[in-house]
Amino acid sequence: MNAGRFPEGFFWGTAAAAHQVEGGNHANDWWAWEQTPGHIKNGDRSDPACDHYERFAGDFDLLQSLHQNAHRLSLEWSRIEPAPGQFSKTAIQHYADVLQALRDRGMEPMVTLHHFTNPSWIADAGGWETPDTALRFANYAERVTNELGQLARYWVTVNEPTVIAYQGYVRGEWPPGKRDLGAAARTLVTLLRGHGRLAFPLTRAGHASGPAPSQDFFGLNYYTRELVKFNRHYGAELFGERVLPVGAPRSDLNWELYPEGFYRVLRSLQREGLPIFVTENGIADAADVRRPDFLLTHIGAMLRAIHAGVPVRGYFHWTCFDNFEWAEGYSAKFGLIACDPVTQERRLRPSARLYAEICRNNELPVSVELPPAPLGRVEPAGPAELR
Ligand code: BGC
Repeated sequence: MNAGRFPEGFFWGTAAAAHQVEGGNHANDWWAWEQTPGHIKNGDRSDPACDHYERFAGDFDLLQSLHQNAHRLSLEWSRIEPAPGQFSKTAIQHYADVLQALRDRGMEPMVTLHHFTNPSWIADAGGWETPDTALRFANYAERVTNELGQLARYWVTVNEPTVIAYQGYVRGEWPPGKRDLGAAARTLVTLLRGHGRLAFPLTRAGHASGPAPSQDFFGLNYYTRELVKFNRHYGAELFGERVLPVGAPRSDLNWELYPEGFYRVLRSLQREGLPIFVTENGIADAADVRRPDFLLTHIGAMLRAIHAGVPVRGYFHWTCFDNFEWAEGYSAKFGLIACDPVTQERRLRPSARLYAEICRNNELPVSVELPPAPLGRVEPAGPAELR
């Protein structure tokens, strides 16, 4: 039903974030957080990750050989502005080299300005709870886009603002480790203002005029669906206890695999009338037993949405290399390519070749039926699996 070609010029790539792959990021809030036992599974730390800061050229050769024509990456603010108002020429030149390396390989860069990490000096000044952070973020972003704007057409301001607020200020499992709904709300407001400051001039001091004119495409990160049921003991989480359908297929992190939801979210974005990029979609699957099917069913769902008129322009699979998966450390394997943080060996998983075939042909090779989603009986997902 869903076999078929994608539109000409469709972007096929993978997505990654600086702190998860680069190694050597010691001047941000995450590195400080990683030093406390119990914060990261197995006591893992983000250095060396994939040592991608040094190895980016070889890594891009590999992705190019897999027929990827685009790549999403993030810039590390703490490298670029290690102290307030002091910009590192070396770091900016490094990212210029990275973007040029992509262009030289015919890979379109998509650049994220903020992917979860904050410079230590921002964290020390109160992080995103502090309204001033919106302005500081805008200053950094202005400098970066002035210097690097010629090298990239697609820019993402803030990756997953709600995840920042939820993990850092509701669940307290990420820095700054708070459980405070008021702080979460203040954080979201500042993140939105930071985004707004970059996207258009503010109309009234401190008040964004609204999100509508502040974006020229939609970036969708889709992994799973979450079902919740009322539980009076879950007050800190607004009384929502996460549950999973009995028998539902799951990833190594116990996230339900639900491609139908991907299709439905894409259809729901259609009414916005903006181009859409799938900026992340992937699965933790160390054995690579579920990823091939995940790729086929999710890309199949995306193709079905395109056939229904949804303007999807590109797909960035999460992720190229196994990397530092935040509080899960190196235990969660999202890579099409396995990467050993000790030896730095890169090894293609079979699904890397399957994805390469799709990228090369700009086509889904087989007809994919979406699996029926079990509903009915549910079981507790358990707090450990929440993200
Ligand atoms: C984040 C990534 C993360 C991925 C898998 C996304 O929410 O943007 O940084 O690695 O999910 O958990």
